[in-house]
Amino acid sequence: MKLQVALCVACLLLTGSAQDRATFQRGNDQRGRCQYTFTVSSPREASCPLSGGGPEMEALKARLTLLEAHVSRLVGEGPGAGPRDAHAQAELERARLQREKEQLDGTVQDLQARLVDMKQEVERLRAQPCPAAFPQSAALQDGGRRAASGSGGVSPLVSRSMVQSERGRVRDSAWSLGSPGYQELKAEVTQLPASQLTQEGTEDDTGCGELVSVSEPVSHRKADNIAGKYGVWMQDPEAPPGGPYGPQMVWRIDTIGTDVRQLFGYEDMNQFSRGFPTKVLLLPDPMESTGAVLYHGSFYYQRRLSRTLVRYDLATESVAARRELPHAGFHGQYPYSWGGYTDIDLAVDEQGLWVIYSSNKAKGNIVVSQLDPKSLEVRKSWETSVRKAAVANAFMTCGRLYTLASYTAPNTTINYSYDTATGQAKAIAVPFQNRYGYNSMVDYNPSHRKLYAWDNFHMISYGVRLGKLDAK
Ligand SMILES: *[C@@H]1O[C@H](CO)[C@@H](O)[C@H](O)[C@H]1NC(C)=O
Ligand SMILES: *[C@@H]1O[C@H](CO)[C@@H](O)[C@H](O)[C@H]1NC(C)=O
Repeated sequence: MKLQVALCVACLLLTGSAQDRATFQRGNDQRGRCQYTFTVSSPREASCPLSGGGPEMEALKARLTLLEAHVSRLVGEGPGAGPRDAHAQAELERARLQREKEQLDGTVQDLQARLVDMKQEVERLRAQPCPAAFPQSAALQDGGRRAASGSGGVSPLVSRSMVQSERGRVRDSAWSLGSPGYQELKAEVTQLPASQLTQEGTEDDTGCGELVSVSEPVSHRKADNIAGKYGVWMQDPEAPPGGPYGPQMVWRIDTIGTDVRQLFGYEDMNQFSRGFPTKVLLLPDPMESTGAVLYHGSFYYQRRLSRTLVRYDLATESVAARRELPHAGFHGQYPYSWGGYTDIDLAVDEQGLWVIYSSNKAKGNIVVSQLDPKSLEVRKSWETSVRKAAVANAFMTCGRLYTLASYTAPNTTINYSYDTATGQAKAIAVPFQNRYGYNSMVDYNPSHRKLYAWDNFHMISYGVRLGKLDAK
């Protein structure tokens, strides 16, 4: 279009080469229509003809009329505007709207980023434990003091934990890489209303039974960085009434690294999926393996490089019991087939607290012991004939041990069960999916009747169906 106009004007100027100056003006007439004025100065000033006279003027008029017709058609303002011009007009309008849309998109992105920043700030403030949060760990306090004095000018009123948090140590891993807002938006999550977790399985609420089937996995959260490749996530199946954390509370630990001691707490499944912790606890002893559990207000775990079990009370934030698990192999002696120092695997079911492990005496076969949840003393033990190194993982349900055949195969089976009530072992074949290819934790939660698992960065759960209580 522009080219055509330019060509027309150029033609006109060329054909009227006798003139040394020509101007072209555009303006509105009284009726609001566009008027184009073409002015040419005559080479012979003295002989300027009267208006409307002379062949030269007539020719110019003719050309001007022609030009007006052209221009008005091209601009689409004249009565001759055809469908092609309407199309051009629509194109212009679309381009304008596109530009506006892009500007608005930019604004929306800005606002979203600011919203995420603000949420993060709120969560950061909320996640700061009170100054009294780590009374039992002298090492930590020292570290905190060093940090406080090192950063200079920090008011003594600023709590140690806040200093820690500001140094980025006490954070959900989602916050420790790059722009937190971006990480959070990028996180692949399937949000499940918490109610769904409790509603499913109601048909089996009548009682315990054998494992009949395991549903497809549901992903609740994907870890953002390498620290979250393996880990443990859990909910207390028996959160004590009156305790500081209700039954909706979700806890998570990323277990990559040698100094694993951060326990992240989330108000509910929704906050867990979004990665906004409301509580961060620092364990006094670092932990090992993915075998930790929560039970009745305490967090139970294996202390790193030892066969020592630790009971950490969430309400007092202190160690309530420490005890060696007699003869248990640890730190790579009898792990599950995937490794990961998973020698000692704690478990919870309808009947209480258990530990799954092996020993030299059992020659690497799986031993199951029921523990006293208060003192961590072994109440009773059962020795199976299944090699621990041959199974991918194991869990307890209704007093029965179940083992998983593979931690990588997309379609594998739970292929063995051992009933502690009767001492009977059984080969079974309950289908089980490792959807993300590296399942490093599988634990049963008796109150939700679900398996909680950690499969290659994905924190997932599986519904389980239990059969009727079999007559015994
Ligand atoms: C279960 O599967 C594992 C891995 O394939 C295998 O080694 C084991 O023998 C199976 N156990 C039973 C009881 O079939
Ligand atoms: C696994 O099982 C599902 C459904 O049972 C099936 O759709 C899928 O193709 C299987 N995958 C493999 C790798 O066998």
